[in-house]
Amino acid sequence: MHHFEYRDGILSAEEVSVTALAEEYGTPLYIYSAATLRRHFKAFDSAFNELDHLTCYSIKANSNLAVLKLLAAEGAGMDIVSGGELYRALKAGVTPEKIVYSGVGKRDSEIREALEAGILMFNVESVAELKRINTVASDMGMTAKVSFRINPDVDPQTHPYISTGMQENKFGLDIENSLAAYTLAAELENVEPVGMDCHIGSQLTKIDPFLEALDKLLDFNEKLKGLGINIKYLDLGGGLGIPYDKEEPPHPSEFGKALSAKLKGLPLKVIFEPGRVIAGNAGIMVTQVVYTKSNPTKNFLIVDAAMNDLIRPSLYGSYHRIGEVELKGRQHQRFDVVGPICESGDFLARDRELPTVDQGERLVVYSAGAYGFTMASNYNTRPRACELLVDGSNVTVARKRETYEDLIANEL
Ligand code: LLP
Repeated sequence: MHHFEYRDGILSAEEVSVTALAEEYGTPLYIYSAATLRRHFKAFDSAFNELDHLTCYSIKANSNLAVLKLLAAEGAGMDIVSGGELYRALKAGVTPEKIVYSGVGKRDSEIREALEAGILMFNVESVAELKRINTVASDMGMTAKVSFRINPDVDPQTHPYISTGMQENKFGLDIENSLAAYTLAAELENVEPVGMDCHIGSQLTKIDPFLEALDKLLDFNEKLKGLGINIKYLDLGGGLGIPYDKEEPPHPSEFGKALSAKLKGLPLKVIFEPGRVIAGNAGIMVTQVVYTKSNPTKNFLIVDAAMNDLIRPSLYGSYHRIGEVELKGRQHQRFDVVGPICESGDFLARDRELPTVDQGERLVVYSAGAYGFTMASNYNTRPRACELLVDGSNVTVARKRETYEDLIANEL
């Protein structure tokens, strides 16, 4: 459920006309709905009411400060993967004790910054990283709370690029070597093993892979207890999928029910790191048709948004629903929706049945709230888009459109 609906034939974002926003702020334009973000966060978080839990929104999905502030005000913790994301989280007023830090390549400076901030724990992905955290913490006269990211070798049945919990992936530690890693962590002076973590992939549309991973982690926890290591936190990562097209992922309440049945009564605080399910359908991207063109085999809509604005179709072959901003009862035709970038892979949709919109008219690209702007680049020296946050009839410029000067500001 989201708050982008047609009113008298014109798409609205909550109480505001998308046409009016596009006229005022230009295109390409990202628009996020505050009510949808709140609603998604609550739906997810309340699905685990039976458990002692903490929902740490995964910043990488949409890291705009306005979005982070809104979610922090709802009580969200945050999952970070870089010093930059830590900086954003702190700027947004997130409580440091609600921050978990994942990622395979944390640098010394980033570890130091996180220790200084007083985050909840590091999700450690290798023994080498554990030793590094121990050294940095020792230099600072501190003890770092750590959990290991365990790779449970489960197939999440999603796109290979966003599968992370199989043996061939770079993430986490395999179960066999994890016991030795915990033993080492218990021995080292400046780290304290407090948790266990996994994240098996993104855009999962079934519950079974989560349950399979959870079973493996709970088995492993029994082994840890046998070694006298009692952890407090069980971090199950993110990954719950959303409907982009015809997918039917479980509703968070169904997801919550299935997991709670296994976790209820255990003396563990459960942490979740959802990203896409919170932000994905809380955002749209609006683009204008610059030209239309046809050749003997194809019809093209050449739009002003490109792969630098939304790379998911080019990178993963992802489907994003596209529609008109203004309904005009037009005929439909097959189109490739392409951007101005000099690559054949620059498209938002291929062979898509769409209304025959004309030059100058606008299209909406749905489900663009997660991994949209955060993956944007300046390729072809294109200024990155403007981001708006709409809350009822209130419009906030969450990020100004970049200017040409911005593009060269750091070049000396
Ligand atoms: N936790 C960790 C450790 C992660 O690596 C990720 C996502 C999440 C949580 C959040 O996962 P989510 O709930 O959003 O599925 N760019 C890709 C998605 C990459 C996801 C990377 N990790 C896309 O556009 O589909």
